[in-house]
Amino acid sequence: MSNVDITAPRTSLIGCDGVSVSYGHGPSLVTALHAVELLVEPGERLALWGRSGSGKTTLLHVLGGLVVPNEGRVMWKTSELSSLDAAARGRRRAEGIAYVFQGSNLLSHFTAFENVAFATLLGVKRDGGRAPRPRTHSPEDLLELVGLSSKLDALPGELSGGEAQRVAIARALAQSPELLLCDEPTGHLDSDTAERVLDLLDGLHRELSFALVTATHDAGVAARAERVIELSDGRVIGESSP
Ligand SMILES: Nc1ncnc2c1ncn2[C@@H]1O[C@H](COP(=O)(O)OP(=O)(O)OP(=O)(O)O)[C@@H](O)[C@H]1O
Ligand SMILES: [Mg+2]
Repeated sequence: MSNVDITAPRTSLIGCDGVSVSYGHGPSLVTALHAVELLVEPGERLALWGRSGSGKTTLLHVLGGLVVPNEGRVMWKTSELSSLDAAARGRRRAEGIAYVFQGSNLLSHFTAFENVAFATLLGVKRDGGRAPRPRTHSPEDLLELVGLSSKLDALPGELSGGEAQRVAIARALAQSPELLLCDEPTGHLDSDTAERVLDLLDGLHRELSFALVTATHDAGVAARAERVIELSDGRVIGESSP
């Protein structure tokens, strides 16, 4: 049974109520999430922790509005994300939710600067109006924040894995997100570079006060969060505060 009333007056940024997600059908049906309950508060630092296949990416996709659950609801502030059509969900995302994908997913024919600059256009209306949230940093500022002022004109193929990941973080921050979703942000990095990327995320989280949800199989990465939600076979099986 649901133990979270996501419609009650509250301050939560985003919430899942009884969220189930299945892929495929018939004999190939996979239930990736079973009746997941979750609330994320503004500015909170949360980790989704679990083994490979436990449902972390699926849950991040649900939070980001990229996957619509088969059952249950997702509330973004006061609106129900799961009831919106794809275009409306896209607008909501552009208004406040940014994503750092597993692997950095940069546009390979565009420079670091251009990759970040494009993201500052997200949410800009066709009539030239701006998105409701002001963009507080220029692309140059953001790349300086992640320590890449010297790489503005580099193409993704000319960057190391850690540098590309930092461009992806700068690109996500270009949206001035209220919620930043990071999927295994250090999955492909050596341990020193991973530490630097995680320190960077911690610092940016403190400075810019977005809510940060990180999916990871790594207990050390999860332990940096204020709250760790443990997933197993698509179920939330535990919660702890490191
Ligand atoms: N597009 C898809 N089609 C079919 N099954 C899928 C799809 N995406 C995920 N799954 C299945 O759903 C389950 C959860 O996958 P998910 O990617 O959410 O796990 P994860 O915890 O992120 O794993 P990893 O740590 O390997 O990234 C797995 O059993 C996976 O095989
Ligand atoms: Mg995953």
